[in-house]
Amino acid sequence: MSIFRTKSIEESIAATADGEHSLKKNLSALDLTVFGIGVIIGAGIFTVTGKAAAQFAGPSIVISFLVGAFCCALAAICYAEFASTVPVSGSAYTFSYATLGEIVAWIIGWDLLLELMLGSSVVAQGWSTYFVVFLDKLGVHWPDAIGPGSHLDLPAMLLVVVLTLLVAKGIKESMRVNLVLVAVKLFIVLFVIFAGLSYVKTSNYTPFIPPSQAGPSSEGLAAPLIQVLFGMQPASFGIMGIVAGASIVFFAYIGFDVVATTAEEAKNPQRDLPIGIIASLSICTVLYVAVSLVITGMVKYDQIDAKAALASAFESVGKGGYATIVSAGAVAGLTTVVMTLLIGAVRVTFAMARDHLLPPRLAQTSTKTGTPVLLTLIIGAAVALIASLTPIGKLEEMVNIGTLAAFTLVSISVPILRRKRPDLKRSFTVPLNPFLPILAAVVCFYLMLNLSIETWLRFVIWMVLGFLVYFLYSRKHSRLAVGDRHGMSPASPD
Ligand code: ALA
Repeated sequence: MSIFRTKSIEESIAATADGEHSLKKNLSALDLTVFGIGVIIGAGIFTVTGKAAAQFAGPSIVISFLVGAFCCALAAICYAEFASTVPVSGSAYTFSYATLGEIVAWIIGWDLLLELMLGSSVVAQGWSTYFVVFLDKLGVHWPDAIGPGSHLDLPAMLLVVVLTLLVAKGIKESMRVNLVLVAVKLFIVLFVIFAGLSYVKTSNYTPFIPPSQAGPSSEGLAAPLIQVLFGMQPASFGIMGIVAGASIVFFAYIGFDVVATTAEEAKNPQRDLPIGIIASLSICTVLYVAVSLVITGMVKYDQIDAKAALASAFESVGKGGYATIVSAGAVAGLTTVVMTLLIGAVRVTFAMARDHLLPPRLAQTSTKTGTPVLLTLIIGAAVALIASLTPIGKLEEMVNIGTLAAFTLVSISVPILRRKRPDLKRSFTVPLNPFLPILAAVVCFYLMLNLSIETWLRFVIWMVLGFLVYFLYSRKHSRLAVGDRHGMSPASPD
């Protein structure tokens, strides 16, 4: 029973035709792009940007955004090649099952679960923060004891419960809601850019790259791993600050990979998935660079509000009314992110359960809704609990490290699959193979090294937990393992 057994691409595609375990195909390229934007623009730009600018990069956060975009673009083209070759639910998990073997697929699936479940919890917490701010502006006070930052973040919990029910009802219905909310979100982001432009003071851009300095955000377990590994004096700002900033604002780009998790629901995945992934990422990059230029131009970087930077920037120039509009937009905008990440988490676990790496009962779709109802409810309940019970600000870096680990492995898989299966039809190919995929892996790993020691420790614990589940359950129950024993579906030995 080799842990490096692979599941052939034909097997993966065939499994999707099995009625009870298959998903409806009804998404177009436009749906996928909207879906991408819906999940990409969220807590990252509304909250994380302020924190990263104030603590790590100052106005040069703009460069951090470009570094993050470069890293994501490299990973995105690798994703696009895979998604156009293996159009099966489960994203990077499925791609790697076909190339690097079961254990690597498991690791990626486990990383993606971290990304998607914690990601949706973080954004639910951000939603709750803006929700309470918005209520305040309307003159309604939400009780602190059951608000964001308390022991029980009730708004975050209620939001996740409602969205879970919506997702369980069916993806097309969810897409319709998504479309409206994405439109609102785009409007708000453009509003910030154009309304903020006239309040930009060029003096706020000097120094553009603040000089490197030691500070609380760079000491002890909060220090980036790379600084400790290479015996550097831990510091914020300066050039290292730009890279540390990039490893944090990376959060703002997360989600384009989720487009690939809906491969099975796309009408024409080979053509539409690369379009959806690349279009949504490009649009968001332009918007992020513009927003971060405007915000750091409106407010001196050391005075940026780390919690609600966008709304507060308008407060600081005496435009409280604009701040209300921005908070309302954030509430609408963050809703789609939580929902889309939830959908992604369900899709990845669905694929893992269908391969029997998790209990197969979870992969049963309801004949009425066409969605895996039980699985959706379980994931939704877990996210609702994490979002409402964990302290705010602890999980973002965990989401980033899980995602970057998955990106690294996906990038390495591209040249491997090219070599192993040159015969497969690829409607989109990464240029300059293997140079670009290897560069993608190196850049992603480098950003991982810029995350804090604390984050690395938590990540290692999560991975150990994953290995326990794999070796105690999945390895024995895997479809490939059972096929081996009955001689039905022989796994390839490599
Ligand atoms: N990219 C998503 C956000 O910024 C996760 O909220």
